[in-house]
Amino acid sequence: MIIVREIDPADLALFDEWYDALRTGVVAGREAALVVGREALGFSLRTPGPLKRRIAVGAFEDDRVLGTMLFEYRLTDNLDTVEVEIDVPPQHRRRGIGTALWHWAVTRAAQLGRTIFQSEIGVPGESSPGSAFAERLGFTVEHVEDHLVVPLPYDEGRLDELRWSAGTLDGYRLTSWAGVCPPEHQQAYADLHTAMDEDVPTGGMTREVVPWTVEKLQASEQRVGRNYLALVTMAHTLSGAPAGYTLIYLPRADAEHAQQDDTLVLREHRGHNLGTHLKLANLDQLAKHRTTQRFLHTWTALSNAPMQKVNARFGFRSVEQNREVELTCPRLRPAARALVVDPDDRILLVRFEFDDGPLWTTPGGGLEADETLIEGLRRELREEIGLETPDDPPHLWHQEVVAEGHATGYDGVLNDIFLIRTGPFTVGGTLTEIELQAENLHGHRWWTLGELQSAEDRFAPRSLPSLVESVLRNGPPTTPLALGL
Ligand SMILES: CC(C)(COP(=O)(O)OP(=O)(O)OC[C@H]1O[C@@H](n2cnc3c(N)ncnc32)[C@H](O)[C@@H]1OP(=O)(O)O)[C@@H](O)C(=O)NCCC(=O)NCCS
Repeated sequence: MIIVREIDPADLALFDEWYDALRTGVVAGREAALVVGREALGFSLRTPGPLKRRIAVGAFEDDRVLGTMLFEYRLTDNLDTVEVEIDVPPQHRRRGIGTALWHWAVTRAAQLGRTIFQSEIGVPGESSPGSAFAERLGFTVEHVEDHLVVPLPYDEGRLDELRWSAGTLDGYRLTSWAGVCPPEHQQAYADLHTAMDEDVPTGGMTREVVPWTVEKLQASEQRVGRNYLALVTMAHTLSGAPAGYTLIYLPRADAEHAQQDDTLVLREHRGHNLGTHLKLANLDQLAKHRTTQRFLHTWTALSNAPMQKVNARFGFRSVEQNREVELTCPRLRPAARALVVDPDDRILLVRFEFDDGPLWTTPGGGLEADETLIEGLRRELREEIGLETPDDPPHLWHQEVVAEGHATGYDGVLNDIFLIRTGPFTVGGTLTEIELQAENLHGHRWWTLGELQSAEDRFAPRSLPSLVESVLRNGPPTTPLALGL
């Protein structure tokens, strides 16, 4: 049975196992996948910054990590969006582990009230497991970039040729630094970052651009500087106005890979070969600071013809596509519920009274914003029926119902339903009958399978009798079954 749960990045042995699974999942079948370093990711998870929340999630079987997910969201902007990256090592694929992790993401996003999912997929050929998986979930490709690589150390002969053909740089001067931005350039550098964010093509990806301030720049450089040495070259006009910049990240603990990140020339300064001069100056910095890195990676939109041209001149070779994908989901109300089974295989159901008649369903209820599924289930079952929830109950079903009228203020409901086998117990929670009735709950009943199968009553999920039959006959499924109404 697969159990999906958040991992504590401070548990170093567990984090290492989780990271190994992530890395194996990312690199499989790809010539030049770039994986965030163990130290950099560990630091970012263990030391959250003020702008972003990052959660490491694992899919476990017998306490071994079989699949991983990074679930992240920004805290002060882009408040409808979450980013997910799901990675399953090849030997564990096609068993529903990716889907189980995805269901966790759907539930957590619903708890946060976020509806836009974004992800990036490295695709070496026409398609890949990741692109097939994302398509199956309903994601659409909104933006495509070429992922390009050039070997390091950079070819000195090519560098000489490029210098020669670039000629002299008239009307501008260049300033380079390694590490944090010198104070006298901070405002200009922050403004260039804002221009970069506004200018960089991102296709149809939903994105709110937030202007950079000097404070944000300093905070970001400080965080990033723990794990990466930033190599920057900036261009100014002779009167001191900023015209562009380029940035390479040299991971402090990655023996193999360096990243050519942003390169921007402001619109009014394009057409003067500034992009080439910036990159040349920064490659000089790279030659000075490089330790063991053997590859320089960069990403450029397929549609960005000028930058593609510069990259080709510098000898970058395309190794795969980076596809940015997005999916907007309805606003669903998340709830945790339990199929409670007694020693005689009887099922405990609670009865709701709605305008359109009674409905029998599993006990449980809506999650609070900061609860895990199990915490929510534990609270709800105590309140509603007075039953204690074990730590890792089997996760039976993940039900998404998009329909009006199921939960006020939402487009539908999301129920994660767990199996609890219990000894005989008397139903009676901490809520009074009047409090339960205020939530439309009017009583409960133990049902045998035969009674469920012959009943004319309405159940949620509708196919509850056959679902219960399958659980009683075959036990819980390995990964939660996806259900509709
Ligand atoms: C994508 C990935 C996470 C899928 O993990 P998984 O555990 O194999 O996923 P599931 O078993 O839940 O697959 C669910 C469905 O996705 C589709 N799918 C997944 N892999 C596929 C493949 N190689 N070819 C075609 N369809 C595929 C299928 O429809 C599959 O259902 P099925 O097995 O019943 O046909 C895994 O292949 C991976 O780690 N790839 C590399 C990283 C990546 O690209 N991640 C996606 C970015 S978030």
